[in-house]
Amino acid sequence: MSITNNILEVNNLLFKWRKTNNFKLKINKLAIKKKKRVILLGASGSGKSTLLNLISGILEPNKGIIKINDTCITALSSKQKDLFRTENLGVIFQQFNIIEYLSPITNILLPCYFSLFKNKKISFYRERAADLGKKLGIEKDVLFQKKAKNLSVGQQQRIAIIRALINFPKIILADEPTSALDYKNKEKFLNLLFDMCEQENISIFMVSHDNLITKYFDDVLLLEKINEAS
Ligand SMILES: Nc1ncnc2c1ncn2[C@@H]1O[C@H](COP(=O)(O)OP(=O)(O)O)[C@@H](O)[C@H]1O
Ligand SMILES: [Mg+2]
Repeated sequence: MSITNNILEVNNLLFKWRKTNNFKLKINKLAIKKKKRVILLGASGSGKSTLLNLISGILEPNKGIIKINDTCITALSSKQKDLFRTENLGVIFQQFNIIEYLSPITNILLPCYFSLFKNKKISFYRERAADLGKKLGIEKDVLFQKKAKNLSVGQQQRIAIIRALINFPKIILADEPTSALDYKNKEKFLNLLFDMCEQENISIFMVSHDNLITKYFDDVLLLEKINEAS
């Protein structure tokens, strides 16, 4: 049973990069309700990727609490964090980070290799990928082709969405996935992503500097407002 209606909560967060620079993130409160689509806007260098890395447990804050689906990830060991990430989070990177010399299916299954395969067989996830491909208009011969390097932009978008969904996440974290796309492709990408997330009750937290896409979201946050150190 869930205690709150929030999928993500950040409380009294403080983060500083050690030595290298003066950058600080100080966020008193940030909460995202279940099934909501939230976008956080911020200029380049304002700390968007840093915040996402804190939320996904890749970076550790100096202070504060981060809860995802009522689990306090800041209290987990790094091994537990890795497991928690593979079981609960979907991630979409800037420019999709598709590895060209691997097949699309291997790209999709990469995040699963470390823990998920211990619980379920690889064939289960291959089927899940094919299933999602069907919904997103990716044919099997494209999914299982030898190398990802010949994918069109539209196909790359879909592969990135399938990869983020493969583990049945509760929330998707997306780091400026639309920044390299023209307006039409942005729209297509967001429609596909939102459609899939609605079908599977997944929340979305996207960070971006692109204020043209805010109209597609339930909530718009500004990093310069929520970061008290800026
Ligand atoms: N690995 C790192 N080591 C030290 N400083 C970093 C590192 N990554 C980013 N920064 C600094 O943290 C600040 C925020 O960066 P980042 O989170 O990448 O911003 P954004 O994603 O909004 O462009 C910048 O000042 C950047 O130089
Ligand atoms: Mg960034």
